[in-house]
Amino acid sequence: MEPVNLAVIYYSSTGTVHTLAKAVAEGAEKAGATVRLRKVRELAPPEAIGANPAWAQHTKDSADIAEAALDDVAWADAILFGTPTRFGNVASQLKAFIDTAGPLWQQGKLADKVCSAFTSSATPHGGQESTILALSNTFYHWGGIIVPPGYTDPVQFRTGNPYGTSHVTGAGAIGEDVLQAARHQARRVVDVAGALKAGRTVS
Ligand SMILES: Cc1cc2nc3c(=O)[nH]c(=O)nc-3n(C[C@H](O)[C@H](O)[C@H](O)COP(=O)(O)O)c2cc1C
Repeated sequence: MEPVNLAVIYYSSTGTVHTLAKAVAEGAEKAGATVRLRKVRELAPPEAIGANPAWAQHTKDSADIAEAALDDVAWADAILFGTPTRFGNVASQLKAFIDTAGPLWQQGKLADKVCSAFTSSATPHGGQESTILALSNTFYHWGGIIVPPGYTDPVQFRTGNPYGTSHVTGAGAIGEDVLQAARHQARRVVDVAGALKAGRTVS
């Protein structure tokens, strides 16, 4: 059977979501998917980036990650989107990329993709779930098949977010449980996308 084509499309200012995205990509690869790890284009002005040393540093450190293109969306059987929480919502950089997908939507090329999301916020009640649910609005419009992690693995009871992998930056660096949750979410997405792809090949 053809492997699942999986795109990890994310935005990160200071590297947290980037670290989650790499764990997601690793989990998907281990589950047998062909993976494209893609950051979306930065839209903030250089002076805003330069005023924040962590942002400036991450911009340099992630220079080698390819930028997401609409072809990555069209190619993918499954997409995992990552965004930091911004006032309880999706980062504008990721939203701007998603908003370029109108032509694919018009051609019916966004339907039936398996979609899932992950995030990070500064505080525990700072809007992780509202951010992931806000991304889900897009998935509904696409006719996507939303695959959340739920409580489908013991690690979910330790990290506690059934909506999607998430990290609280105010609580410290990303630990092994969160990385494991990211890999689990990716594996689950690959498994579901693989079953759907196999079913389509047969029918
Ligand atoms: C403009 C802005 C808005 C933010 N809004 C929230 C928020 O609503 N809740 C929260 O807990 N953290 C908020 N944060 C903090 C980020 O979500 C948090 O630092 C995130 O984990 C950074 O991810 P990154 O390192 O991948 O850029 C905000 C940060 C910025 C710059």
